[in-house]
Amino acid sequence: SASEKGGWASFMDKEIHEQPQAVADTLLGRFNLTGDLNLDEVRIDEDVFRSIDKIIVIACGTAAYAGMVAKYAIEHWVRIPVEVELAHEFRYRDPILTPRTLVVAISQSGETMDTLMALRHAREQGSRVLAICNTQGSSIPRESDAVLYTHAGPEIAVASTKAFVAQIVAAYVLGLYFAQVKGTMYHDEIRKIVDELRAMPAKIQHVLDTQGESVREAAEHSLDAESFLFLGRHVGYPVAMEGALKLKEIAYTFTEGFAAGELKHGPIALVDEGEPVVIIVPPARGRNVLHAKVISAIEEVRARGAYTIAVAEEGDDDVRDYADVVFWRPQCPTLLSPLVDVIPLQLFAMNMAELKGLDVDKPRNLAKSVTVE
Ligand code: G6P
Repeated sequence: SASEKGGWASFMDKEIHEQPQAVADTLLGRFNLTGDLNLDEVRIDEDVFRSIDKIIVIACGTAAYAGMVAKYAIEHWVRIPVEVELAHEFRYRDPILTPRTLVVAISQSGETMDTLMALRHAREQGSRVLAICNTQGSSIPRESDAVLYTHAGPEIAVASTKAFVAQIVAAYVLGLYFAQVKGTMYHDEIRKIVDELRAMPAKIQHVLDTQGESVREAAEHSLDAESFLFLGRHVGYPVAMEGALKLKEIAYTFTEGFAAGELKHGPIALVDEGEPVVIIVPPARGRNVLHAKVISAIEEVRARGAYTIAVAEEGDDDVRDYADVVFWRPQCPTLLSPLVDVIPLQLFAMNMAELKGLDVDKPRNLAKSVTVE
């Protein structure tokens, strides 16, 4: 009902705007007084954590993209391999699982049957399963060895938004805890990232407060487009795929998200006059070699007539020269940028669906939680 939506046009609109809170609440209570991470709640011994030599993330849909983001951060911080696999593929291909493997099952609802079957399989093979879940007492955490809850609050809209940012935060907390226990990072380094994470709710709020108009402009401009391409590199790659998924789910537009480096290996053939291309641009600071490469991807698609929509860091003048529209994000470390970069993409999909007169919260053919395999 309208009252439950609290004045928002849709649950999706409301949930997009709850993201600063979702991030803040998911960080809350996970540190002790000295600033060290404290994950007593997961009830896995520190020695067990130290023995883990591989992490496999299993999930579906948006949760799998959160897992892909987490892989970049956790491998960088903890120096152990992290695989990310769609739960339904993992379950039926005889994956390698040992007692030293930690399987991380990410699920908003905790009821996705594909993910549940995969976690059962992992436990039967003797691996430990830790759930990252938004729903207290649901099946996935109940059947896991341990759980780290995301505190995004109930998510009603079918297209996932606030659960995604909360999943990234929870996976990052887990990764930093691993680094602390395994000693792969100095205390001060961990502390610095934690402080940056704590600054993210205000940065997300800033995007929400300032980017509405450009998002609307881009949506109006590309309303009649038959397809969209989304591209990004590094953590921008899963963000591109998540942005593409949002648009498929609620605006029924054909989209593809891919790694920007792959452009020249195929997708550029799709670029024609007027094709909208959304590009996630990494920070230019810190001599980031990927920045120049992504800028040249924008140039290449633009030279072929694409309508270019960039998501870029405030102050990035190179982008201003090459993109038709820019969704600006405040400065933040690269690994944390998905938390702000996804926001305008969610708003963009919502605007497109609204302009097409579609039901934003209940898209055709989709269920919030898929409880069949
Ligand atoms: C369904 C929903 C998606 C969601 C996926 C995984 O397909 O429509 O939005 O990402 O399930 O759901 P989960 O509850 O496991 O995160």
